[in-house]
Amino acid sequence: MADAQEMQDGKNFYPDVPQSCPEFLLKGSNSLDWGMKNRLARIFSPDNCRTVMLAVDHGYFQGPTTGLERIDITITPLIQYADALMITRGALRSSIPPEMNKPVVLRSSGGQSILKELSNERITVDIEDAVRLNATALAVQVYIGGVHEHESIGNLVEIVDNGNRHGIPTMAVTGVGKELVRDAKYLGLATRMCAELGAHFVKTYYCEPGFARVAAGCPVPLVIAGGKKLPEPEALAMAYRAVNDGAAGVDMGRNIFQCEAPMAMIQAVRAVVHGEETPEKALDLYHSLKSTEERSQYAQ
Ligand code: 5RP
Repeated sequence: MADAQEMQDGKNFYPDVPQSCPEFLLKGSNSLDWGMKNRLARIFSPDNCRTVMLAVDHGYFQGPTTGLERIDITITPLIQYADALMITRGALRSSIPPEMNKPVVLRSSGGQSILKELSNERITVDIEDAVRLNATALAVQVYIGGVHEHESIGNLVEIVDNGNRHGIPTMAVTGVGKELVRDAKYLGLATRMCAELGAHFVKTYYCEPGFARVAAGCPVPLVIAGGKKLPEPEALAMAYRAVNDGAAGVDMGRNIFQCEAPMAMIQAVRAVVHGEETPEKALDLYHSLKSTEERSQYAQ
C-alpha cells in the first residue's frame, strides 16, 4: 500500500504552458457536454467531421425490404466499412453480433406501415432501453407539412429531451410526404426546424439546385439519405455533390445494400466522403472491388 509520507512532490506541472482547450470542430456542437461530444465524435470522424452511416432500418415500416431479408447474412459483412449503423432495436438484438464495435444510431420512432398514412408515428423506444443497448444516437422521423406534423415534432422534442438527460444525441430524419416536393425551399424549412427544435444532426435528401443553401441554413450537420436505388454512377455523383455542397456525409441504405456488390459500393462511397475522390475515380474503385469480390465468390 502506498505510504502517504513517502509521496513525492509532483514536478511536471508545466506552469508556463496554458491548459489546452481545443475547439470541437463538428458544426454547431462546440457548446455540448463531454458525453454528447464523445458520442458525436464516434459517428463523425474527428479528422474531417464526416461520416458514412449505413441505414438498415427500413423494416420498421416496410417489412423485409429487398437486401434486408437476412440482415445477419447481408449486412454484418458491411459493418466494418461503415462509421455507424442506423438500425431498429429488434434487428440489432436479433441479427447483429454484440461484438460489433461501431456506433449505433437507434431508430426510435415508428408505429405505421406502408399500408397506412406514413406520418402517423409515435416514439417506439424507451430511453432506458436505448441506454441498455448502448445506443450512440437516437433517430426520429419528422414530417413537416405532413398530416401528423404536430405529433412528429412532439416525438422529436421528447426524444431530444430524453437523450439530453443521458448525453445521447438525436438525429432528426425529414420524412417527406408524397404530396410534398423535395426542393431547397421545403428541405431548408424542414432541416432548420429540426435543428431549432434540438436535433443534434439531421438526415435529409439531396436536392438540386439549392442544396448548398439548405446546408448553410442548418446550424448542425446534415447527412443525406440515398433514397430509391439509383445506378451506381448516379449514387456516387449525388454523394460527391452533397459533401461538396456542405453535407457532413451520408446515411445510405438501398443504394448500398441493393447493389450487386454492396461491399464494393460502401467502399466507393467512403472514397468519395472520406477520400475526396471524384465520382469517376470512386466508380473505377467500385468496378475493381466488384470483380475481386466476384472472383473470390467463384473460388469458393
Ligand atoms: C425513412 C428512412 C429509412 O428507413 C432509411 O434510413 C432511408 O435510407 P435510404 O433512403 O438511403 O435507403 O430514414 O425515411
